[in-house]
Amino acid sequence: MDLPKLLVTQSGEPVTDSRDWEQARRPEVLELFRENVYGRAPVGRPEDMSFAVHDVDPQAMDGAATRKLVDIHFSGPGGEGVIHLVLFIPNHVEKPVPGFLFICNRSRRHIDPTRETKSEFWPAEEIVRRGYVGAAFHYSDADPDEHDGFQNGVHGIFDPSGERAPDAWGAIAAWAWGASRALDYLETDSDIDASRIAVIGHSRGGKAALWAAAEDERFAMAVSNNSGCTGAALARRKQGESVRVINENFPHWFCENYKGFNDREDELPVDQHMLIALMAPRPVYVASSSEDAWADPEGEFLSCVHASPVYDLYGMPGLEAEGMPPLDSPVADGSIGYHIKTGEHSLTEYDWARYLDFADQHWGAVAP
Ligand code: GCU
Repeated sequence: MDLPKLLVTQSGEPVTDSRDWEQARRPEVLELFRENVYGRAPVGRPEDMSFAVHDVDPQAMDGAATRKLVDIHFSGPGGEGVIHLVLFIPNHVEKPVPGFLFICNRSRRHIDPTRETKSEFWPAEEIVRRGYVGAAFHYSDADPDEHDGFQNGVHGIFDPSGERAPDAWGAIAAWAWGASRALDYLETDSDIDASRIAVIGHSRGGKAALWAAAEDERFAMAVSNNSGCTGAALARRKQGESVRVINENFPHWFCENYKGFNDREDELPVDQHMLIALMAPRPVYVASSSEDAWADPEGEFLSCVHASPVYDLYGMPGLEAEGMPPLDSPVADGSIGYHIKTGEHSLTEYDWARYLDFADQHWGAVAP
């Protein structure tokens, strides 16, 4: 398998230090992903955006947390939208508190602000107990996960009129955009340390989390859980879900140009190790599940291995592993963490515990 060269610019110049990477190579890799894979967002932070904080409960979770619900309102030429952010801020920790921003791609009950429903998909009580802010929004607030001709969600609000460009953003980029707007709010909240926010998602949400942190370097960490094809997994391995299959089943996820690489993975100017490399020098964690061949666990692992040379430019170890680690044996001493857990395609308490440990390790354990 011949991967595109990470440390050579398009004009053939070698990238030998972090300055070259930041000034010459990183911007072009990011552009290649925009142009060929995720598409280009027509807007960053909208001019018209406001935050309404409501339903504050200083004694949520039996006094362990302060709950805040925040409506992030925005508008553009095609109308208006609102992202509903759910926040639990630990009461026992000195402020400002670092946290995890979760892009929820399953039913809203997983991020229940009342906590009547509890779910290991988003174990908010445990996140709080470990001393982190648990923040979450439902991805459909940014863009519905259906092929609606890009009429609804942020596409309908912000896309220029007329024919769509072949590099116009898809739904994954729209969800990533939503994560950045949530971070815009977190930056205004003095209880929260917005300089230490990990963006995290599962599966399609994991693809969006990685793209969010690639586009928005304010995210201090990214976590990809079982993100698979066009997330962490290398496309050129052609294992599990392929570029053709993902484009046919989810025609609204990526830009139109990406469809030109159906059955032509080898012609992509990027592969997914380059997406992981866009995180550097920030810590990033990638996790697979043993019964999730569709997401190609080994391809997820190898992306981390092949992204590591960029971390080396910063004098930091990336993923320190010779080969795939055994099941349930995280390798997370460097700036890239990886594990493959026993089990199906899922985000569980086991996964969350590893991510919280990883944050402790990089940010200094915060929970007493
Ligand atoms: C499908 C899709 C994957 C995706 C997954 C999910 O299986 O093929 O690419 O990651 O759904 O989001 O659960």
